[in-house]
Parts: sequence; structure tokens; C-alpha cells
Amino acid sequence: MAVEEKSNVKNSSSIVPCFLFVELVIMAGTVLLAYYFEYTDTFPVHIQGFFCYDKSFSKPYPGPDNTSKIPPVLIYSIVTAIPTLTILFGELCAFFIKAEGTQEKTIVTADCCYFNPLLRRIVRFLGVYAFGLFTTTIFANAGQVVTGNQTPHFLSACRPNYTALGCQSTMQYITERRACTGNPLIVMSARKSFPSKDAALSVYSALYTVMYVTLVFKTKGTRLTKPTISLTLLCLAMLVGVVRVAEYRNHWADVLAGFFTGGAIAVFLVTCVINNFQQFQSSPPPQRPQHPESVLGMPMVALPCVESPLEKLRGDLRVLRSHDHQPYRFPATPDVLIPSRSISSEV
Ligand SMILES: *[C@@H]1O[C@H](CO)[C@@H](O)[C@H](O)[C@H]1NC(C)=O
Repeated sequence: MAVEEKSNVKNSSSIVPCFLFVELVIMAGTVLLAYYFEYTDTFPVHIQGFFCYDKSFSKPYPGPDNTSKIPPVLIYSIVTAIPTLTILFGELCAFFIKAEGTQEKTIVTADCCYFNPLLRRIVRFLGVYAFGLFTTTIFANAGQVVTGNQTPHFLSACRPNYTALGCQSTMQYITERRACTGNPLIVMSARKSFPSKDAALSVYSALYTVMYVTLVFKTKGTRLTKPTISLTLLCLAMLVGVVRVAEYRNHWADVLAGFFTGGAIAVFLVTCVINNFQQFQSSPPPQRPQHPESVLGMPMVALPCVESPLEKLRGDLRVLRSHDHQPYRFPATPDVLIPSRSISSEV
């Protein structure tokens, strides 16, 4: 990658179409896999047994998912709309006020296609977001199918005939595959509980948006805007998990595992794949008048005060690194790795 290039235009005749093709193939494969998990029974669910009269699986049947207070349709709409609108809004603002760290080169391929920098960033961030959304769906569905853990209302949906099964005590474990007399479709969906897909999707979406807002938005005038947006989104995601538990659709462990799945995918994609929403070919950082000694002594004073801890940590690391080798210099290597390191040490 040409880092030293001064002009803001990059020529490439073959690289972009090739990468675009590979990425479209991967994307199509991911969507297809998510579709097979979601709408077909290509992957049969693992059949687990149960204890007779088990209290933790005997909650009343709350009805199909559509009758929930937060039905899947609502979750899918919110999970699609909020990040898309946030990223569109943020990119348009950053483009028109020319925020630092959000400038991209225009790529020119074979005289025909100009990849506008604004368009590149929007397509990249939304593309990675969509990829993560389908990946989260696949992870959650795969976990549900492989474990076959039952929902809290499993026995109400299954309606086993205890006399026919010969249940006397609660310690008796039933492995009979035809023990259930209820509606087979409802029983099948009552076997898919761990991890909670709704919790995973909402946390993934919230965390991706929160990291976007925190790392890209520059709100110099107000200190509480970004925390308010971030905490509201995370609170909504938590609420989805709470409602799942309250409606006897999932256990706490399912919801926590869903949170972990979605959160881990969001953190991985943002830190390792799209480099904290900054540009890839990193240009030398903007010159700040600073003396290493004073910065090391009191980093809070020397750095701009309206910055997230991540940015602050990154600045500290950069100064520390340059201080190790020489009295003072800007890092010659692109500091692509620093943000991910600083995040992984925090999370
Ligand atoms: C349960 O099984 C017993 C014995 O096979 C049978 O007599 C009874 O009618 C069954 N009950 C129901 C509700 O199916």
C-alpha cells in the first residue's frame, strides 16, 4: 500500500473488482447459510431428554414469538434501521465538515469507475455491519441446534404423558424421543434456546452503533451527547434480553450467552476488520505541539480534553512508543495495530 502518496487519488485497474468479487461471494455464502438455518430444517436440532416434572422447564407457554411484547419483526426492523441511519448521518456530517481521520483516497479504476470516498466509507461500514448481522444469526442458530437446550416453557409445549412414560419421581430422566404429545413445530422451537438469538442480534447492533458513535462523532461542545446515545442503545438491548426472560422464552444463561456472542462479534469486527472506523492507509498523524516529558508527566493536560478513553489511550501509547526509541519522533510505521491493542486490553 502506498502510504507516502501525497495526492488524494489512487489508481488501480484490477485490485478493486477482484476484491469486490471475493467479498460478494463470501457475503452471498453467509446470507445463504443464515437462510438455511433460519427457514429450513437442513440442520436438525439435537434432541435432549428431560427430568419428569422439572420445575425450570414447566413455565406456561407464552404463545408464538409473534405475540411477544418485542416480536422478531420489530427487532429485525430496529436492528436494521438504527445503525443504517446512524452511519449515513455520521458519514454525511463527517464528510461535509471534513473531520480528521475520516478522509479517504478516491480510487480510480481503468478510467471508468470513480469510488467516491464518502461512498467507500458508507459501503464498507454498512457492508461489514450486514456481514456481522448474518454471522451473529448463524452463530446463534448453530448454538441452538447443536446444544438443543430447552426453553423454560418446554414441558408445557411438549405435554409428555407422564403415566405412559412411567414417571414416579422428579429424579427420573426421560430420553424417549417420542415422549412429546404437543404440536411438533412448537416442540421443535421450544428446543432452541441457547444462546438467545434476539439478545445476540440486539447487542451486536447496539454495540456496533455505540462504537461508531463513540469513535467517529466529534461533539466538541457537549460532553454528554455520546454517552446518552450509547447508554440508551445498550439499555434497549438489555431490555430485549429482560423481556425474553420475563416471557419465559429464554433462561438467563441463554440471554447472557447471546449478549456475549453479539458483543464479541461486534468488538472483533470493529477493532480488527474496520480498524475503529478510521481510514486504512493511515497518513502521519496531525502535528500536535507537545513535549514528551510533559505528556508523560500529566497526560490528561497535554491531550485534548474532549476525547474518549480509547483515543486518549491511543495517544498515550503513541507517545510512549516513540519515547522508547528516540527522544521524539512520529511513528514511521502505520499505527494500524495500536487501536486494536488498546481495545483488547480494555475489554
Ligand atoms: C397417557 O397414557 C396412558 C397409558 O398409555 C393412557 O391410558 C392415557 O389415555 C394417556 N393420556 C393422555 C392424555 O394421552
